[in-house]
Amino acid sequence: MNSIISVKNLTKIYDNGFKALDNLSLEIEQGEIVALLGPNGAGKTTLISAICGLLSVPENKIIVGGFDVAKDYRKARSLIGLVPQEITIEPFEKVKNTVSFSRGLFGKPKNSHFIDQLLKDLSLFDKRDSKNMMLSGGMKRRVMIAKALSHEPKILFLDEPTAGVDVDLRKDMWQVVARLRKSGVTVILTTHYIEEAEEIADRIGIINKGELLLIENKTALMHRMGSKNLVIDLQQAANKIPESLSHYNLKLSDDGLQLHYQYDVRAQKTGIVDLLSELKKASFKLRDLQTSQSSLEEIFVNLIKE
Ligand SMILES: Nc1ncnc2c1ncn2[C@@H]1O[C@H](COP(=O)(O)OP(=O)(O)O)[C@@H](O)[C@H]1O
Ligand SMILES: [Mg+2]
Repeated sequence: MNSIISVKNLTKIYDNGFKALDNLSLEIEQGEIVALLGPNGAGKTTLISAICGLLSVPENKIIVGGFDVAKDYRKARSLIGLVPQEITIEPFEKVKNTVSFSRGLFGKPKNSHFIDQLLKDLSLFDKRDSKNMMLSGGMKRRVMIAKALSHEPKILFLDEPTAGVDVDLRKDMWQVVARLRKSGVTVILTTHYIEEAEEIADRIGIINKGELLLIENKTALMHRMGSKNLVIDLQQAANKIPESLSHYNLKLSDDGLQLHYQYDVRAQKTGIVDLLSELKKASFKLRDLQTSQSSLEEIFVNLIKE
């Protein structure tokens, strides 16, 4: 398959000698939504800046839409829209002008039909003649996205789009990303909110200390790395777990009505069948069973610890 972004063995050492990216390789397909997850200082912004051509990188390391970022900066950059973490819009400028001016910076001909549609898609059309400073935080973020999309890029980078924003605004951003996906734009976002990656990404990459620890389809990742939890509802409250069941590491809920058993989905034997028969032997009467997948959060924390 043809990647729209290809990064090969990229190492970035800042002037002070700090190695922010360490031999990092990454391929991204057209139309994907990729979340790059990692703690603060992991190298996420450095990676985005490198792909967008904002940092000096050697030739033949980063190819965007067939163009080498180091050799063909303008052509590569024209395919990219970047929404940086900080809001950087002119307070006294009107929304519509902000967006169409940005299009002009990329040398694209005026197209007010396109700009109007973009403003409509981002629910900004009613505010098109408002000054940026009159907008709420959420609306300002939408203007940043409209600005980044004004030159019709194929790729959109969102660097921590929801860092420090409230829950409503975060959900609102997720909807915007879902709509972008439908229009075929490739979206790469960084976040340190695991639930955000879980909610909107097709693939999840985990970056720590400048290294890409893994990048994988979200569902496959959760399936492969996750453990599952079996919850057993009892008909009568138990006051302790018998000695004969100690090797299952069961946990009894405070009210004594539930047993929790954690098992590894990758293991050959989950132990569930044996556990159930031993529970029966020990005269436990079961009411119900349910299983749940461990969250991406647990997977992430374990990986970073390793
Ligand atoms: N211009 C710079 N000079 C030196 N070190 C830098 C520079 N920019 C970032 N860093 C360092 O590189 C590391 C990665 O930073 P960054 O890419 O911003 O991480 P993230 O976006 O994942 O939080 C951090 O330790 C940061 O302090
Ligand atoms: Mg950052």
